[in-house]
Amino acid sequence: CGIVGYVGKESAQEVILQGLEKLEYRGYDSAGIAILEDGVIKSDKFKGRLSVLSDYLNDHPISGSLGIGHTRWATHGAPSDENSHPHLNKESTIAVVHNGIIENYVSLKEELIAKGYEFKSQTDTEVIVHLLDSIYEGDLLEAVNKLTKLIRGAYAIGVVCSKNPGEMVAVRNESPLIVGLGKDENFIASDIPALLKYTRDVCILENGETVHLTPEKVTIYSKDHEIVQREKFTVDWDVESASKGGYDYFMLKEIHEQPTAIRETLLRRLDENGKIKLDDIKLTKEDLEKITKVYIVACGTAYNAGLIGRYAIEKFAQIPVEPDIASEFRYREPFIDQNTLLIVISQSGETLDTLAAIREAKRKGARILSITNVVGSSVARESDDVFYTWAGPEVAVASTKAYTTQITALYMIALDLALTKGTITEEFYFDTINKMKELPEKVERILENAEDIKKIAEDIKDSQSAFYLGRGLDYQTAMEGALKLKEISYIHTEAFAAGELKHGTIALIEDGTPVIAIAGQESLYEKMLSNIQEVKARGAYVISIAKESKKEIEAQSDRVIYVPDVDDILAPVLTAVPTQLIAYYTSLIKGNDVDKPRNLAKSVTVE
Ligand code: G6P
Repeated sequence: CGIVGYVGKESAQEVILQGLEKLEYRGYDSAGIAILEDGVIKSDKFKGRLSVLSDYLNDHPISGSLGIGHTRWATHGAPSDENSHPHLNKESTIAVVHNGIIENYVSLKEELIAKGYEFKSQTDTEVIVHLLDSIYEGDLLEAVNKLTKLIRGAYAIGVVCSKNPGEMVAVRNESPLIVGLGKDENFIASDIPALLKYTRDVCILENGETVHLTPEKVTIYSKDHEIVQREKFTVDWDVESASKGGYDYFMLKEIHEQPTAIRETLLRRLDENGKIKLDDIKLTKEDLEKITKVYIVACGTAYNAGLIGRYAIEKFAQIPVEPDIASEFRYREPFIDQNTLLIVISQSGETLDTLAAIREAKRKGARILSITNVVGSSVARESDDVFYTWAGPEVAVASTKAYTTQITALYMIALDLALTKGTITEEFYFDTINKMKELPEKVERILENAEDIKKIAEDIKDSQSAFYLGRGLDYQTAMEGALKLKEISYIHTEAFAAGELKHGTIALIEDGTPVIAIAGQESLYEKMLSNIQEVKARGAYVISIAKESKKEIEAQSDRVIYVPDVDDILAPVLTAVPTQLIAYYTSLIKGNDVDKPRNLAKSVTVE
């Protein structure tokens, strides 16, 4: 979910709607607003996209310069007008927006019902507003302080009260919340892009902190209600980079940003001698010698990047690596001790399961190294060492540039670990870095023919199901390719290790079933060709992704997409690109909302 709050002199409606628009990637099944107008809180909220709310407000504007807004991704209670935020108390004197989950809401709700409170929604959030109502004694900050003693869970909460005009209070625990500082106006928001139109000066709230805002003043309080002095920082992104920049969809823009993004990830970290200098990573040779076990933990696309990372770290640094899905890892009692290194990957740095995995591993003594795209994110702050991907904001739900930069980051970490450990020669190290420097230009070459992939999308758009096949690193790429295609085209897509075909999967191949075969590994190429023949013989419609020198694959395939020749280990950065384009164009041709696929959110801050 996304939160925006405003206290100042301008139209709160305008500021909040503008801000929410930039946060729609955080959830968009409903949206709402509450503004103090002439001493009375007016609130409107609707199921559906933000445009439903903004269209309504265009015809029925609310004036006033204090308010909060919310764009929702349902957790408790289906998307509906009633379940949308803000939630108000019976007298409409208090309005609340919330991102996260109140874990003890069931017992709180029972207590409140016993006291005579009536609930209008199925959300956990509504308990917050009734609780506030029951403890409010004229001081909004004090009421929020009391509230935090009663609720448990993950939350970012914004509150306004008609009896405290000109004041806003917000509190965070686990869920992200930032404060924007203006002249005679101040803001809260779940994320920076929401505020860029109005201010570049922001403070990040830490867990357990509360903030009290008036147009003139912002005061941050610690968990123990002591005033905290927080340095502000100035954001240097331009608003343009957080908006579509000429492309139809953010996803296409972000696909095309990959050459630049990969270049940033790589080149900004090469020193004058061409050696990798890792930002904020303090692992020494002694530290490394102690490490006996490495886990790579993440969710979704970041997890798929981790699968590639395993190959690179095992191959270069010769340390055994176990990748795991964060939501599984945290509950399976993995073996962790002081000699464990946990590599965490998260684009947003706010995924709750990933954060929970960090905390669990930390508790058991592991060292945490994270790869994230968001500076100052929770994942970054809770890790011992951080590698920022510097890919720039990623808005489309389907992750693209974050993925290829995460892989780039993993190669760099693997090379650095390996050189420190002495498992590779300097010659190999520099040779690999030089080959990595060629990746952005090679990605550019694939993108020059991006539109050709439209034809493939036409061919597969009506299929019920599709398969991705690959071996070795190509299998890992296949997993990400399948995730991309299913999440935005809604075609049921699965990835299989090509060698496993004959153990079951091949039974699913019928006449015309699309099979996308990734053949980017020189060492497994012949074997992959046999697998392609096997599915072709059963009627599959084969789309192969291969290196450009491998022309003979055309005889076995209905269509071939070529990528420039490259070392096997680096091939995943290139072979990923056609899979992204296949997903993009298929979704586009099907008329789907490419950037905001149904049921999905960009950043999942609930379990
Ligand atoms: C969501 C997004 C995915 C992303 C995953 C992990 O499911 O839709 O694109 O890969 O979360 O997000 P993170 O921010 O931790 O990388």
